[in-house]
Amino acid sequence: MKGVVFVGFFELVEKEFGYEMVDKLIEACNLSSDGVYTTIGTYEHSEMVQLVTKLSEFSNVPVPTLLKTYARYFGKAHLRKYEPFYEAAEDTFAFLESIDGHIHVEVKKLYPDAELPKFDAYRISDNKLELIYKSKRKMGDFAEGLIEDTASYYNEEIKITRTLLEEDGSEIKFTIEKA
Ligand code: HEM
Repeated sequence: MKGVVFVGFFELVEKEFGYEMVDKLIEACNLSSDGVYTTIGTYEHSEMVQLVTKLSEFSNVPVPTLLKTYARYFGKAHLRKYEPFYEAAEDTFAFLESIDGHIHVEVKKLYPDAELPKFDAYRISDNKLELIYKSKRKMGDFAEGLIEDTASYYNEEIKITRTLLEEDGSEIKFTIEKA
């Protein structure tokens, strides 16, 4: 997993829970990086799983809530830097449809070691899009937060319904309806 994801995570932990929590997490987790991350570095995905699980334990906030909150922060703080991607799409659906064939493709060119999910998008009607998420990293909650963040960028109200296609969360159908 790319370092930028860890850097963003620690920014949010510090903002929401204070620096002591950052220290406490690094202390409590068994991190081969020793808790030192650079944005362009690459680290074990399991370190993120450990960090989020421990943060949930210490804060009493459930893991899915933490991941969704984190995704919304990550979108605003880090993904907005990729302005041309947002400008190229006219609305939430067009942006989400462009992740798999364009955005993540460009990300992969920039960072060949990035581990990205697969998305299949189906436009059911003008107001309804189905997005099928596939990833062995099972970050569906993170994906949901990023979908919500995309809608907030385009100032659109959406409703997201989730259907598990694989029991373990490695395949999820997001049905996204415009209000
Ligand atoms: C400007 C737009 C975007 C950029 C530049 C971008 C870039 C990235 C990067 C750098 C990673 C980390 C890869 C790694 O750690 O190895 C990532 C992961 C991920 N991205 Fe995107 N992304 C964008 C939009 C989105 C959106 C809108 C969604 C949701 C629909 C999404 C879903 C995900 C998920 C779920 C992961 C976690 C890895 C996984 O589940 O396998 N991304 N993305």
